[in-house]
Parts: sequence; structure tokens; C-alpha cells
Amino acid sequence: MKQLYIFVFLLAVGTAVRAQASSSSSSAQKPYFLTIGNKRGMSVTICNFGARITSLVVPGKDGRPVDVVLGFNTPEEYTQPKAKYYGPVVGRFGNRIAKGIFSLGGRTYTLSRNNGPNSLHGGRKGFSDVYWQARKTDSRTVELSYVSPDGEEGYPGTLRVTIVYKVGHDNRLDVVYYATTDQATVLNLTNHSYFNLNGSGDAMAHKLWMNAAAYTPVNKDLIPDGPIATVTGTPFDFTAEKTIGTDIDAENEQLRYGQGYDHNFVLSKKVMTGSQPALRLTGDKSGVVMSIWTDQPGMQFYSGNFFQGRTELRSGARDVYRGGLALEPQHFPDAPNRPDFPTTVLNPGKRYAHRSSYRFSIDKSH
Ligand code: BGC
Repeated sequence: MKQLYIFVFLLAVGTAVRAQASSSSSSAQKPYFLTIGNKRGMSVTICNFGARITSLVVPGKDGRPVDVVLGFNTPEEYTQPKAKYYGPVVGRFGNRIAKGIFSLGGRTYTLSRNNGPNSLHGGRKGFSDVYWQARKTDSRTVELSYVSPDGEEGYPGTLRVTIVYKVGHDNRLDVVYYATTDQATVLNLTNHSYFNLNGSGDAMAHKLWMNAAAYTPVNKDLIPDGPIATVTGTPFDFTAEKTIGTDIDAENEQLRYGQGYDHNFVLSKKVMTGSQPALRLTGDKSGVVMSIWTDQPGMQFYSGNFFQGRTELRSGARDVYRGGLALEPQHFPDAPNRPDFPTTVLNPGKRYAHRSSYRFSIDKSH
């Protein structure tokens, strides 16, 4: 009799465990949206595939809502290659690692290469291409987590990542990234939204002020290949606000390599300590102003130079050439191979934390 009870008990436990496993894997394998917002007209939609921002709506100067990130209509579209870098968290290493190789603790690691000779944004299957566990913890907050197995895309260590998106009452989106590892590894997480503060069209008349007196010049593969350089006297000088189009087509080797801006800016120390913003971007038509605050040392600015107008976006819009601006608070590209750059090593027992905040207001003078 006792044996029968034990048998029935084990059978029940087994069925329950299987049911749970299949329900979590089937729900985990479907893309879906979660929307958070405040009472002042700001709402943000997050997709569990890629932990991405798919929509970010704020009021414009005439009170009309503007969706200031480029994106698609349905969750399913985000699983397609065309949407790979629309709004996701990029990782494990946002930006490029030269030749997809780095050494750590006396070992050399070879990563998945997906950008000519380099590894870009975590490799072929980066954090933009995986399902995250997502939940809305209150009307203004979404929390996502992902466990990246040891060796994924060539990176060492099991990495546990949590991301929190929170909309503030004052029309800001705070994004916090946490991670821990069980082996020494490298890490550089950021968000890869394409901003267009007018909502559509090319972004060349957007005004940009960047709190950066220096940048990291690159070689033709967009890998920093020399010392940090001053922006003074170059098209990279945004220390006085100017439109993005002002110098983008200037005769300049660096702009030629990127076909426009595709460079990491070295942010002022006052940005990392939280006393000043990293940048301010203004949509000339909408009057929407976005400032980014961050504790990261760099800001990758990519001006949508590879957009070709061939991809259909939300509401029939297209990926207009230079119509989306990626502004990515992050560590410097190729940092794992550059001991002179701030370190991106994460050791066991330590917690990685990156905080960035996207704050919105309206400039009515336009
Ligand atoms: C890079 C670009 C790249 C883009 C992919 C940016 O962060 O700097 O070179 O083409 O991501 O969407």
C-alpha cells in the first residue's frame, strides 16, 4: 500500500514538473508586448524577444503624441532578421570586438563573428535574438531576465542578467542593467533603439549637443585603432549644439569609414558622476527634446548610414536613409583588447550595474 502511495505521489510530481516545464517553454517562445506608462502622456512598449523597446511615445509641442523610436507593428516581426537591432538590449558585448578574439586570465576566447572580421553586438545570436523572461511589476515597470550559458557565442561564464525599465512621472525612462557571472568574463550592455524625435523622415535637422570633448577614431572596420582624439576642429565636435546634418558629409576620413557618424564619443567625467547629461537631442519638427544621463564612459553615435529605405516599418513608414539615430551609452568598442580603455571585465562575486536615463521635455521655440 505504502509503495502504491509513493508511486502515485511520484507520478503526480513528475506530471506537475513536466506541465510547468512545457508551459514555461511554450510561453517563453512566443514574442509579446508589455506596455508601461505614466499619466503625463508617456508610454513605453517592451518586447520579451531581445528585451527591446518597440515604442516610446511622448507628447510633442502641439500636444500630439510622437513615437520617438523606429519599430514594427507586431511582436512577431521582431523575431525576423530585419528587426534585429531595432530597440534591443545588445550584449554580451555591445559594439565591436576586433577579429572576435580577446584574452582573459591567460586564455584566448574566440567569439562568433558577424561583422566582417569582427564580433558585433554579442555575435550572430546576441541578446537581441533571445527570449527573456519578462514581467510587469507595476504599471510603470517591466523587469526582464536572461541566463546566458557558459560559452554562449564564445563568451566565458554563466551570466545572469536582469534589466529593469521604469517610466517616471516626469516623462523619463530609466533603464538599469544588472549582471553576475560564475567565471571572469567581459560585458558591455546597452540599448540599441533608433531614435527619431520627429517620429519619421530623415533626422539630419535634429539638433545635437554632446558632452564629449574627445572620441575614439577607428580604422576601416570601425575598430578604434589609435589614441583617443580631441573633437576640436573636426565634424565630431558637438560640444556646441548643431544639427546632425551640418558636417556629416564633410571631407573626412573618419566619416568616410562610417559613411557618416558611427563612432564612440568619450563622455565628460561629469556625466559618469551624474552631475551633467551625456547629450541633448531635439526633434526640429516635433519640439521633442531627449537628454540621456548615464554612468557609462562612452556614447556610440550611429546615424543610420546603412538604412536603405527598403524595410517597411510601423504604419507603412520606411527605414529612411539617416532616419534613425542610435545613441548607445556604453563602454568603448574593443575594450577587451585595449588595456588603455576603461575595463569591461566582470569577475565572479561582483555585480555589473549600468544605469541610463532617457528624459523627455518639449522645446516650444521651434
Ligand atoms: C554600430 C553600427 C551598426 C549598427 C547595427 C551600431 O551600434 O555602430 O556600425 O551598423 O549598430 O544596427
